[in-house]
Amino acid sequence: VSENKINAIIQSAVDGVITINERGQIEMVNPAASKLFGYHPDELMGKSVNMLMPEPDKSRHDGYLHNYYRSGIGRIIGIGREVTGLRKNGTTFPFYLSISEVNLPDKRVFTGFIHDITNQKMAEEKLRRYA
Ligand code: HEM
Repeated sequence: VSENKINAIIQSAVDGVITINERGQIEMVNPAASKLFGYHPDELMGKSVNMLMPEPDKSRHDGYLHNYYRSGIGRIIGIGREVTGLRKNGTTFPFYLSISEVNLPDKRVFTGFIHDITNQKMAEEKLRRYA
């Protein structure tokens, strides 16, 4: 598959896709991701991914990365987890985060796949209330 095709696929994906470098700085966001978080893509490039999450994760995320580099044990990579995102307007939303590690010849990057589960959570909550 050509690089152009890969780009077209990522750009049109329904789920959010964000790539960070080893320091946690955002290197790529697709339109779905910037829309979900309420930013223009330019506002995110080069910024720390921790601007997209509420406390306490915001203060701890650099530490999460370091723990992973030290231990080699991923708590989300290859597993996935439900986490909370923080939008530009200060509101939060739940999403399912999957992370993959990409080892390029000269560096390593991480790709996060962001699947909004707001509606799923609302449906679950309704079921609980009326059960
Ligand atoms: C680890 C939260 C976004 C990359 C973690 C951990 C948490 C977390 C809780 C593991 C802590 C532990 O149990 O040790 C969040 C939240 C996010 C977010 C709330 C909301 C925006 C992202 C994104 C990426 C990313 C978008 C990649 C593009 C990583 C990496 C690790 C990590 C590489 C370390 C490896 C691992 O534990 O699997 N994050 N994260 N995170 N996160 Fe995030």
